[in-house]
Formats: sequence, structure tokens, C-alpha cells
Amino acid sequence: MIKVICVKDYERVSDVAFETMKPFLKSGSVLGLATGSSPIGLYKRMIKDHNENGTSYKEIYTFNLDEYVGLPLEHSESYYTFMHKQLFDHIDIPEDHIHIPSGLGDLEANAKAYDAAMDKMTVDIQVLGIGSDGHIGFNEPDTPFTETTHVTGLTEQTRKDNARFFDPLGEEVPHEAITMGPANIMKAKNVLLVANGKNKAQAIHDMLNGEVTEKCPASILQRHPSVTVVVDEEAASLLDPSDYERR
Ligand code: GLP
Repeated sequence: MIKVICVKDYERVSDVAFETMKPFLKSGSVLGLATGSSPIGLYKRMIKDHNENGTSYKEIYTFNLDEYVGLPLEHSESYYTFMHKQLFDHIDIPEDHIHIPSGLGDLEANAKAYDAAMDKMTVDIQVLGIGSDGHIGFNEPDTPFTETTHVTGLTEQTRKDNARFFDPLGEEVPHEAITMGPANIMKAKNVLLVANGKNKAQAIHDMLNGEVTEKCPASILQRHPSVTVVVDEEAASLLDPSDYERR
């Protein structure tokens, strides 16, 4: 079941995402986290809530979706650095509660180890952004829905979309990534997908109204029992108003 909530702008997307997340910010919870610009506002609100209300992450565990292959952890664009800068450095989560797939060394072994770690816990809520080609995590179009954690090539579209982060460094976007597969994502008890901006409108439309197909990886969420999608007006611009709740 997918519930779609449409709000005015990115700030409101982040407010509603935080409201959806809040019940899971408690001892024993397992959070699935995402990178990209979309969840940054949500993470800001989690930090504010930690500072102002004392919400503790000491007994919370996290699993991130993905990581680039070949970037050292300390690289400014590694997802390891992103997550520490945007969230982990500002809350009280123990470092050994954080799981991020490793894009360094023996990648096959890393993928297996990540699946094994995920098998020991169940993600209570998985945060997702969406790529303009409908990818979730780094599951690009044509990834089998049955895939678990694996190494993948990045499409030209995704590399173009993410060039804005690497261009200022004078570097190329990596060609490969290691990512949870659709099968891992579908095991989460709840999914929270956030999207804003015009360049997401087609992907949001296809995810919700298109057929369930590996051509649009996010369309698999139509088969998930508990998904909340929070979008701004631009990302919702190709939807029929009867498709969403307006807030
Ligand atoms: C990357 C990440 C995805 C993310 C997507 C959208 O490819 N691997 O997890 O959802 O980008 O990013 P943004 O939120 O910056 O638009």
C-alpha cells in the first residue's frame, strides 16, 4: 500500500518526513538510511530533535543503502563522509551501530557480509530518495527485483545527475557502486520515500502509476505493504490530484 502526501515545498517535505520518522526514533529501532540531497532536510530535523528534545540514538541501529566503489572513506563525496557530515556526527549513535556497505577491497565479500548483517536485523523504516530514472539506492533500471547487495555500474543519467557533487572537485563520478538490492529494500517493515523538484516528476509518476517493472526499479514499491511517499508540488506535477493527500 502506498500513501502519497503532497506538500508545498521541500521544507514541508522534510517536516512531514520527520513526522513519519519520529515514532521510530526509539530504543531498539533499525533505520534504513539514504544519501543524496533529498533526505538532508529530514536529517536536519532529526539533529534538531536530538538537540532540543534529547532523543537518543544510543540504542538505534542504521543500515545505509549504498556507497560508491573506489572512494576512500575520507573522500568528501563518499557516502560514509556524507552520512557522518549530515547526521551521524551530530547525534549520539555509537559508531559500531552504523552500517554502510564498503566500496573498497573485496567487493563480493563486502556484499555478502552486508547481507549477513542485514539478515540479523529487520529494518523498521527505510528512507529512500529516487533517481530521475526511477532508481532506488543504486538499483538502476533492469536490476532484477530478486537482487540483494551487489556491485553495479552507474548509468550515464545517474552519473550526469550526480556530477554536480564531483565537478567542483575536478573529478569524475565513479562508474560503479555497491548497493542493497530491491530484495533487501522490500524486507523493511516500512518505507519512506522523499522527492522534490521537476526532474523527479516522471519517476514519481512511473513508480506510482506505471506497471511494476524492473525498467522502473521504484515500481516494486507497489508490492510493499507500507510505503509513505512525500513529494513537493513539482515532483507531484504529473500525478492526478486524486492520487495523493494534500497537506
Ligand atoms: C543517488 C543515491 C540515491 C538517491 C539518488 C537521488 O543516486 N544513490 O539513493 O536517491 O541519488 O539523489 P538526490 O536526492 O540528490 O536527487
